[in-house]
Amino acid sequence: MSNNIVIAIDGYSSCGKSTLAKALAQKLHFIYVDSGAMYRAVTLYFLRHAVDLNDHEEIAEALKNIHLNFHSRDYQTHITLNDEEVSDEIRQMPVSDNVSGVSALREVRHEMVKQQQRMGKSKNIVMDGRDIGTTVFPDAPLKIFMTADPKVRAERRFKELHEKNPDITLEEVFENIAHRDYLDTTRVESPLVRAKDAIILDNTNMTPDEQLDFALDKVNPLLS
Ligand code: DC
Repeated sequence: MSNNIVIAIDGYSSCGKSTLAKALAQKLHFIYVDSGAMYRAVTLYFLRHAVDLNDHEEIAEALKNIHLNFHSRDYQTHITLNDEEVSDEIRQMPVSDNVSGVSALREVRHEMVKQQQRMGKSKNIVMDGRDIGTTVFPDAPLKIFMTADPKVRAERRFKELHEKNPDITLEEVFENIAHRDYLDTTRVESPLVRAKDAIILDNTNMTPDEQLDFALDKVNPLLS
């Protein structure tokens, strides 16, 4: 029996899940896994190869040709898609606009969940996403469900994206977030819902340090 610890962080888009997950992993010397980056990398592959989302055979075939790897330097997400570093490209709007459709596909979820469960088998990890506490690690000893005012989330994401893409507007980012919230919570396969035993963290008015303290408070009993 393994006695590694998995911390599951779920919640809405642009809620600061990855900021908290990275900070926690760094503090605890756990491995950080950004499950959203996996769905984004699959989406990038599907876009590049014009995979038809209605063709189940084509989807299954494409999934066989996708090899994802995380390279954990400095607690940032470095992900490769078939050995190509795609960490920046997966954050751009073409991927953001299409990732909900791709991540709603049963075949895609099945494959990603399998890979994620493998990563948490024997190592201490912090994984963030949408279904980590409900589907990937339903027995995780600590589950945090993050939420924040959608306007505040859009402003935070806009600041990040605007540095790299000055043409982007706040309205566009807000629309994308609202649309993804809708798709993430209403999809048939593993919709975004709070696991019954997840602790809610609404960070609308919290600094990253306050969020880290909140989480560490919940983790510490698990470590002693
Ligand atoms: O966390 P993120 O915004 O980078 O995630 C990108 C998309 O991937 C998001 O719209 C929903 C999907 N996703 C998912 O369905 N399940 C996960 N565990 C993580 C992300």
